[in-house]
Amino acid sequence: MSDPVPVITIDGPSGSGKGTVSARVAGALGWHILDSGALYRLTAFAVEKSGSDFNNPSQAAEIARKLDVKFADGKVYLDGEDVSLAIRTEQAGNNASRVAAMPEVRAALLDWQREAARLPGLVADGRDMGTTVFPDAPLKVFLTASAEERAERRYKQLKEKGIASNIADLAAEIRERDERDSSRSASPLAPAEGALTIDSTAMTIDEVVARILLAARERGLS
Ligand code: C5P
Repeated sequence: MSDPVPVITIDGPSGSGKGTVSARVAGALGWHILDSGALYRLTAFAVEKSGSDFNNPSQAAEIARKLDVKFADGKVYLDGEDVSLAIRTEQAGNNASRVAAMPEVRAALLDWQREAARLPGLVADGRDMGTTVFPDAPLKVFLTASAEERAERRYKQLKEKGIASNIADLAAEIRERDERDSSRSASPLAPAEGALTIDSTAMTIDEVVARILLAARERGLS
């Protein structure tokens, strides 16, 4: 049997910095990256586009199984159309969390996510990477930050993109999404057993990345 592909899972709530941290860790190690949230966002986008509603799990799962997705040059294409920006809106994130609560959709996306594990290694970013998708990963990280800090970071990100927003509204949306992601019965957001929990509220991205790379070295992954 061939050696297993090493996987580092990075799970946590929205706005904890997972995306940026995962990309930096993958870059430093020269590993692949799985943005599992994008798959849920794409599924929700495709459900909306197909005209079906968000209350039909078997239809949503069918759509998830048939997603025609391509990741290229930092962009995401659905049915050949560049949807990189369209799937990043707050609305798209909320719709994603609705389809993500459906066990049928989660099952439909499972093999797809596992197939992303390729040599030399994979950094998997999501909510259930360490608990469900890659339970045997040698390094599991749970990255968190206070809801206020996460709302503030999101506010700055949107401002940089020229999108006006309101911190109080963002904090309320973040709490609502946290609540839905943590209380659902299918793969709820929770630290995996043995996960290294990092609270990034008062940390810089560099510090978080350095902490994870140190943990990877300690486990002989680099
Ligand atoms: O990480 P991102 O904000 O792109 O994820 C969007 C939504 O997709 C999350 O709020 C969550 O509901 C869902 N998700 C999930 N499991 C994952 C990744 C994302 O349920 N592994």
